Amino acid sequence: MEYSISPNGDKFKIPEEKDYRKEYERLEKLVTARKEEGFEIVVVIGLGFVGAVMAGVVADSADKKTGKPAKFVIGMQRPSTRSFWKIPLFNKGMSPIQAEDPEVAPLIERCVKQKKTLTATFTYDALKLADVLVVDVQCDFIKQDLGNMKSGYADISALETSFKKIGEKISPHCLVLIETTVPPGTTEYVAHPIIKKAFKARGIEDEPLLAHSYERVMPGKEYVRSVRDFWRVCSGINEKSREKVEKFLSEVLNVEEYPLTVLDKPTESETCKIVENSYRATILAFLHEWSLFAETNGVDILKVINAIKVRPTHSNIIFPGPGIGGYCLPKDGGLGFWAYKHLMGFEADIFQITP
Ligand SMILES: NC(=O)c1ccc[n+]([C@@H]2O[C@H](COP(=O)([O-])OP(=O)(O)OC[C@H]3O[C@@H](n4cnc5c(N)ncnc54)[C@H](O)[C@@H]3O)[C@@H](O)[C@H]2O)c1
Repeated sequence: MEYSISPNGDKFKIPEEKDYRKEYERLEKLVTARKEEGFEIVVVIGLGFVGAVMAGVVADSADKKTGKPAKFVIGMQRPSTRSFWKIPLFNKGMSPIQAEDPEVAPLIERCVKQKKTLTATFTYDALKLADVLVVDVQCDFIKQDLGNMKSGYADISALETSFKKIGEKISPHCLVLIETTVPPGTTEYVAHPIIKKAFKARGIEDEPLLAHSYERVMPGKEYVRSVRDFWRVCSGINEKSREKVEKFLSEVLNVEEYPLTVLDKPTESETCKIVENSYRATILAFLHEWSLFAETNGVDILKVINAIKVRPTHSNIIFPGPGIGGYCLPKDGGLGFWAYKHLMGFEADIFQITP
């Protein structure tokens, strides 16, 4: 028997074959009741730092005309020994993420226990029930050599598994919204063919409804606000997907104060995320070098930067940090480099400064 152990030591049995049917029956019952009340069913795959809070934000949203909840959310997480514990914790109304933001824990508790608009599951069959599917699984960049992103590669295996399951399970009318930070081209060159092939095998001729909108979430004091009350960029693979993604995000996010930017195609919005993060990593690296120069020469870098900021064209120059780090900034440029070569097939060595 296998177990998954939560960070505070609670032990949860990994589900067995026989548990899957019962779990799907539980979900079907919940969904049937919610559908009768007019709710839209949203499945979020990947209950990590991004998915857990996104699931909470959607479940907490209200119809902007009636003020009543209109989305029932199923958080789907694969039952690995490393991550299964998140599901039973979620279903007790407890956030699987320890956050500085005091809004996170009550958000999850309120949606699971009081509003009953949120549940979590381990079965991929949940995907069959979705009107909208949000993909928040990870996509790592594996560096082979320290200080050299060019020998690294994007690990898209978790995403490919998800796309395959999505193609096998979803209804052709379901909007698939990819939020994961991906190598540009992933929605069009990886997700689309995998899902289309699975549709064909099921005798479905419809075009998959795919969209991309990246997260700008910052897991700090304003964690929830950085998902709900923040500007978003989005795009769809065709007109119908674009309309659907605009509608969905407008229903669950504060687009009145933080309007959406709608781009023409997923490769554009995927590139947008990579350039956004890679730009920040690059200027941080640049200023880090000058902070080392300053430190070894008795120069106060803060005075230098404040003096430069007086010039209007340079007023947004940033202060250096203690290096360049975090999870996203060092890896995202690598995803772009890898995509250029492996998804788009170009050989030219255009990247000298990125990431
Ligand atoms: N954490 C951040 O601050 C942040 C900010 C912006 C964007 N992002 C991006 O968002 C994405 C997700 O990041 P995260 O920090 O939430 O990652 P994470 O590792 O915390 O969460 C990913 C979750 O997906 C689950 N998962 C993986 N494969 C699965 C599968 N096939 N089926 C179902 N579940 C699966 C994992 O078990 C895990 O719980 C990444 O692309 C990241 O770059 C993260």
